[in-house]
Amino acid sequence: MSAPRVVLVGPMGAGKTTVATLLAGRWGVAVRDTDHDVEATAGREISEIFVDDGEAAFRELERAAVATALAEHDGVLALGGGAVLDPATRELLAGHTVVFLSVGLSDAVKRVGLGVGRPLLLGNVRARIKALLDERTPVYEQVATHTVSTDARSPEDVADEIDALLEA
Ligand code: S3P
Repeated sequence: MSAPRVVLVGPMGAGKTTVATLLAGRWGVAVRDTDHDVEATAGREISEIFVDDGEAAFRELERAAVATALAEHDGVLALGGGAVLDPATRELLAGHTVVFLSVGLSDAVKRVGLGVGRPLLLGNVRARIKALLDERTPVYEQVATHTVSTDARSPEDVADEIDALLEA
């Protein structure tokens, strides 16, 4: 049974996918992203799943994707921003190396732009992100073995810190 070298969690706009790709490149391992896995399994985009079946149905698909990836992937794994909301998904993370990429409101808003393709940001993007950060930050902190701030930093700089943390 393999385990990912690191699992990245954090809100939309934290840069999980970008940092995961950088780390995987440096370490010469594969990168995997549960958003991508859910879309591949469902044969639909996340926004379509939300509209057609609702968020609860998406979280179920996401939980299954996280379970599979944790069991069979040994590279870098990025989770969708809301995966940790599901208690069963949180339990799956126990014992893994989990890095919370934290981000403040203004950097998150800059990075997601108009929030295209992100159903939970429909409406007022800034207000939606603020609500998500307030609600979820304690949950990310609960599951994380390490926290790395991404505010005003390049993805390369963030990857450097994670590299150093995991080497120590
Ligand atoms: C979500 C984050 C998205 C995606 C879905 C729901 C969330 O992933 O899973 O739109 O609840 O925060 P990213 O964090 O990769 O954008």
